[in-house]
Amino acid sequence: MKILNLYFSATGNTKKVAEMIERTALKERHDVETVRATATLEIDFLKYDLIIMGSGVYHWLPAKPFMTLINKAAERYRASGDMPLNAKRRSDIKGVTYCTYGGAHTGINEAYPATAWMGQFFDHLGIEVLGAWHIVGEYHGISKSMSTGGRLGDVRNRPNEKDLEEVSQMVKAVLLCTG
Ligand SMILES: Cc1cc2nc3c(=O)[nH]c(=O)nc-3n(C[C@H](O)[C@H](O)[C@H](O)COP(=O)(O)O)c2cc1C
Repeated sequence: MKILNLYFSATGNTKKVAEMIERTALKERHDVETVRATATLEIDFLKYDLIIMGSGVYHWLPAKPFMTLINKAAERYRASGDMPLNAKRRSDIKGVTYCTYGGAHTGINEAYPATAWMGQFFDHLGIEVLGAWHIVGEYHGISKSMSTGGRLGDVRNRPNEKDLEEVSQMVKAVLLCTG
């Protein structure tokens, strides 16, 4: 399968997840393109069999450059007729969304809007969403108490090896049901 592994990472947490996705898919002998999102990047999502995309959560949503990339792609697909009203399911492309998040205020409830937002891009394009993964990630560059005193307790050093192993297992499961 031809896989797009698209991610945005401002402080490195989501990058670790994307690297694990890449390693796992390569081990399973798939053709993986790992791409770091930028606001100006143009990607043709429709040329892949499987798209796995993720971002860190910033103010309950994906990071701004990631959202800009997606919004611009949606504009292009609306203009080209690939994102029509009453979107029809495409049988040939599947999607997975994920985010890394700190959850200091409300836990996983801060992560759901981010993957739901990404999932709507897929859904509007007719791409079935096979999964939404929410992976805990330490806060970098702001008060340490955000990583130690929030709703999820001590999230320092997350995503850790166990988190990344779980990611690898989830990737394998998706590859099994799509490959
Ligand atoms: C300025 C800032 C804002 C953040 N906002 C949220 C938030 O609203 N909800 C949340 O769960 N995590 C929030 N986080 C934590 C990040 O989502 C988490 O550290 C994530 O793993 C970062 O991913 P990245 O390193 O790939 O960018 C925030 C972190 C920073 C630095």
